[in-house]
Amino acid sequence: MSLKRNIQELRRRKIEVQKGGGDKAIEKQAAMGKLTARERILAILDAKSFHEYDLFAEHLARDFDMDKKVLHGDGVITGTGTINGAPVCIYAQDFTVAGGSLGLMHARKITKIMDHALKMRVPLIGINDSGGARIQEGVNSLAGYGEIFFRNTLASGVIPQLSVILGPCAGGAVYSPALTDFVFVVENISKMFITGPSVIKTVLGEEISMEDLGGARVHCEVAGNAHFYAKTEIECFEQIKKLIELIPRSNSEKAKSVEPKLPLKKYNIEKIVPENPKLPYDIKDVIRSITDASEFFEIMELYAPNIVIGFGRMNGNTCGFVANQPKYLAGVLDCDSSDKAARFIRYCNAFNIPIITLEDMPGYLPGIDQEHMGVIRHGAKILYAYSEATVPKITVIIRKAYGGGYIAMNSRHLRADFVFAWPTAEIAVMGPEGAANIVFRKEIMEAEDPEAMRKQKIEEYKQKFANPFVAAARGYVDEVIEPIETRSMLLHALSVSENKSVSMPRKKHGIPPF
Ligand code: HXC
Repeated sequence: MSLKRNIQELRRRKIEVQKGGGDKAIEKQAAMGKLTARERILAILDAKSFHEYDLFAEHLARDFDMDKKVLHGDGVITGTGTINGAPVCIYAQDFTVAGGSLGLMHARKITKIMDHALKMRVPLIGINDSGGARIQEGVNSLAGYGEIFFRNTLASGVIPQLSVILGPCAGGAVYSPALTDFVFVVENISKMFITGPSVIKTVLGEEISMEDLGGARVHCEVAGNAHFYAKTEIECFEQIKKLIELIPRSNSEKAKSVEPKLPLKKYNIEKIVPENPKLPYDIKDVIRSITDASEFFEIMELYAPNIVIGFGRMNGNTCGFVANQPKYLAGVLDCDSSDKAARFIRYCNAFNIPIITLEDMPGYLPGIDQEHMGVIRHGAKILYAYSEATVPKITVIIRKAYGGGYIAMNSRHLRADFVFAWPTAEIAVMGPEGAANIVFRKEIMEAEDPEAMRKQKIEEYKQKFANPFVAAARGYVDEVIEPIETRSMLLHALSVSENKSVSMPRKKHGIPPF
């Protein structure tokens, strides 16, 4: 055959395979408001940067008439490309081909691109739209999932792994995302569950919709399995691009520096926190009053909103922010907020991102619900995560820093590198009211006017402990600063910590309270 005819044949084959599951299946996908796997990849990557691998892969299944079926690309598209010029590895399951179900070759294509990402030390983006293990391929499908999970674990903390859920993802299709760093979901499109509604009906006799079982909001608000919520696929892809810009390509690099910018004037740090310490405010306004261009890229916005986590830049460099949110539950630590913060702290530590902690909370949430849910175990995660983190760690105590929460929120005792406190900081075992009622109970009860005595004792306690100066006198707080100085002190601390080096005891790994 002449070269020209060979090229024609190659082109014909490419066009044929790129049809995926065919026009009817693609129409069905579009009717559900979904892009195709190929459209998704092309929308995420820079124009003309996608290089596809294994386009001509064919499945090996023979049972259940599978030998008569052609599954183009075996239901998954894999390859490399760039996002704003930075290389990434990517795969997208194609629901139009056998429901994106995972057979042996499908899994091999995914594990090949995963190996490539790990070897090349570049981020991996997986777009999941799959009915799970391909039933007709039996144990081969399960083996495929096992190989993926193993690689997710191997790559964890080495390269960023992003999972995008863009369809009904069942069974094995949800455990790979669960092992990755960030999970993106889209309203009405994303569904995640271990066992689908039809199996639930058969086994339990219960009717439940896919949305109620594992829709996008369920995973963002209730289950905490997803980190980013978008209304459309395109909005979701913008979130992915933004995240990739903010994080390093691997654990051997730092995040890319960009042109420094000043915070916007509309966020006036001196006016955000109310005079009355009992009044709430939005801690995100404080973050925005500090960060470059007042930008803050929040993670898990809808889950455990009593703690806020996310990335912002300081003088052009990415920092991780962990901040109590006085607007929700007074910013207390509880099971979910501890999980949320601990995982993020570990992410920052693994990827060389300094952590800035903003503290204003009355401690751990008391009560039987929390105790029975395991607040001891979950709360310990945040202690563990801060203690083991060796990246620069800076704390600003804004208002309340009570009890276990004071220790947990990156205190000096967990090896914070810098602890700054505003003059409004109250650092104590507990709040003045609770403390006075316990310590001075007898005097209050025996007083002629118990209410007046209670007020007097609360005032005495406040004068003695509800300030930053006792902690500053012991060196637990390095400097008591004016709110207006916060950004410049943080920039100073970050620049001093640029070459931070600490060594930890040698070990295979610790045993965190998972
Ligand atoms: C083979 C599958 C499949 C699967 C879907 N398909 N899931 N083929 N194996 N697991 C095929 C369908 O037969 C159909 O093929 C096409 O994909 C589209 O599926 P529909 O059911 O028509 O689509 P929809 O109504 O949108 O429902 C999607 C779905 C449903 C919710 C995902 O298909 C479903 O419940 N699938 C099974 C989900 C499940 O329980 N998976 C768990 C597998 S066990 P045709 O040819 O008709 O177009 C597992 C274990 C791993 O994953 C454990 C690891 C820890």
